[in-house]
Amino acid sequence: MAKIAFIGAGRMASAIVAGLLRHRVAEAGQIICTSAADNTGPELAQKTGIGYTQDLHELLSDADTVVLACKPQQLGQLGPEVAELSRKRLIISILAGTPIARLQQVFPEARNVVRAMPNTPGQVGAGITAYASADELGHEDDQMVKSILDALGETVPVTEDQIDAVTGVSGSGPAYVFEFIAALRDAGVAAGLEEELSYRLALNTVSGAAELLKVVPETPETHREWVSSPGGTTLAGLAVMEEAGFRDIMQRTVLAAKRRAEELAQG
Ligand SMILES: NC(=O)c1ccc[n+]([C@@H]2O[C@H](COP(=O)([O-])OP(=O)(O)OC[C@H]3O[C@@H](n4cnc5c(N)ncnc54)[C@H](OP(=O)(O)O)[C@@H]3O)[C@@H](O)[C@H]2O)c1
Repeated sequence: MAKIAFIGAGRMASAIVAGLLRHRVAEAGQIICTSAADNTGPELAQKTGIGYTQDLHELLSDADTVVLACKPQQLGQLGPEVAELSRKRLIISILAGTPIARLQQVFPEARNVVRAMPNTPGQVGAGITAYASADELGHEDDQMVKSILDALGETVPVTEDQIDAVTGVSGSGPAYVFEFIAALRDAGVAAGLEEELSYRLALNTVSGAAELLKVVPETPETHREWVSSPGGTTLAGLAVMEEAGFRDIMQRTVLAAKRRAEELAQG
């Protein structure tokens, strides 16, 4: 298989490389990375056996696919030679808020440009990544995109005009869930539990409920009904959530994140 080059070797790049090696999509010798000032690139290379270079020419000369995984604001720091060096390559960007049109300015000669929106659980292989491409992906390139992004968890193709909404739901979503778990923990403390115990109960309740939804794929509303006996404890709790406008809060949360993603994409 042709070489995969990583621009950026931080948390997300490391998670993808680990997944590629684990799933045997590529051998360590077929992957090469570069980083900027810190030690992330050499560290990743040492830990996984992949190649490392500071030279863009060496990085890209044998590469067929380029994974762009630096910080969005670092995109402008890539030298202008990257335009020519990436000629005919497939570019897969995971940079948050960076539109395909901007990527095409940096990689004007690329074979195709893919904009992906992963989320933080991707770091442990439990993420979901939506992706959109500049031109329709050919079969082989589509397989390549999937096998690279599969390293982070599930993948789903979308159109670029859906990406800001995706950002509002799954990109920023882990933070909402962290906040929910923290709130459930604190509520348990308010109800008289020790913090450590309450946290353990809250965390496993959220991950367990999500797991149950995956294994028994009824709607969340059906599952909710199954645990809500008339006059029971769960209904008493749910009534407070409804009265406080929980669904409306979630809607405003996602719309605010989507709006912010739109603003950031405009630069
Ligand atoms: N973390 C997430 O869950 C998540 C979710 C969605 C999207 N994303 C996107 O994923 C991207 C990477 O995030 P991260 O958390 O992995 O960041 P990170 O850990 O800070 O890693 C950034 C990497 O890019 C390298 N880099 C910086 N400037 C460079 C340059 N000019 N040329 C080559 N490499 C350069 C850095 O090298 P040095 O360390 O040497 O400076 C570092 O290896 C971001 O664009 C972010 O928007 C992340």
